[in-house]
Amino acid sequence: MHPVRATRYVTPLREGGSLPGLMEADDLGTYVVKFRGAGQGPRALVAEVICAVLADGLGLAVPRWAPVEVPAELAPGEPDEEVQALLRASAGLNLGIDFLPGALDVGPMPAVDAGLAGRIVWFDALVGNRDRSWRNPNMLLWHRQLHLIDHGAALTFHHAWRPEGLEDQVARSAAAPYAVADHALVECAPDVVAAASEADRVDWEGLVDTAVQAVPHEWLDDALGDGDAARAGYRRFLLARLAARAVWEPALVEAVAQGAARDAQGHRVPQRSSSGPPDWLAELRIGPRPRSDEGGRP
Ligand SMILES: Nc1ncnc2c1ncn2[C@@H]1O[C@H](COP(=O)(O)OP(=O)(O)OP(=O)(O)O)[C@@H](O)[C@H]1O
Ligand SMILES: [Mg+2]
Repeated sequence: MHPVRATRYVTPLREGGSLPGLMEADDLGTYVVKFRGAGQGPRALVAEVICAVLADGLGLAVPRWAPVEVPAELAPGEPDEEVQALLRASAGLNLGIDFLPGALDVGPMPAVDAGLAGRIVWFDALVGNRDRSWRNPNMLLWHRQLHLIDHGAALTFHHAWRPEGLEDQVARSAAAPYAVADHALVECAPDVVAAASEADRVDWEGLVDTAVQAVPHEWLDDALGDGDAARAGYRRFLLARLAARAVWEPALVEAVAQGAARDAQGHRVPQRSSSGPPDWLAELRIGPRPRSDEGGRP
């Protein structure tokens, strides 16, 4: 994807975990920018891009995206110190997601068609997306269509990635069941069986290659030390996950049939396994990097 150059920081989007900001760029587009220098780091951006390409390849709606070059000159002109620090830490390529004006965040939706719900749930199971829960669905309604956003918490295996232990890591995570009881669409009778047979018709080798090739090299270098090895690792993991469909798909069908996690009063409750942040997230420092002149301040 061709990079665009940011021309102006407009406003923080909201105080979300990844501190996204709205920026204008030299193609006259307005982008929701996820910054490389935010606490979640470049791996979250890698997951965003790989998932956006895979979702698009499966025919699911995702906003258009482009790498956004943030020039170093933008930071000093920014009056807000926190934003200034974030821009300074993010000079270079960041992720821009086309801003969908007027789009509505949706809550848990019983009205989504079972076929579409099934395709979204199947996709989330493939990439291990932990961030489409009934409390935080990460879906936007725009022009009467559901658009999937915020895939930074998918592909979680890469947070524990050590190049030398890759095969062990792949073997441990490729067949892992997907915890669906918290999913925003689990009550829409998602037809994951139909989604699985549609997936049979996809050229996966080609789609996975397109997805890993789409990731800007410098995020891979930042994240894993060696961009080419990282690309090969993502490819290896995704193809292993697909090869393990016979293990996780039947478990997914069964878990979907069991439905949402509810308490005795019928209220939805967080699943035990996902009641807290995952370990890798709990360990992360959320926020921009402290300025070097802040001394010992936490
Ligand atoms: N492309 C977009 N167009 C319009 N609004 C968007 C877009 N992307 C994100 N938003 C808005 O910004 C919010 C935060 O975006 P996103 O979920 O990607 O960031 P986040 O920092 O990961 O947030 P959180 O951690 O709270 O889920 C969304 O819930 C939505 O309201
Ligand atoms: Mg979100």
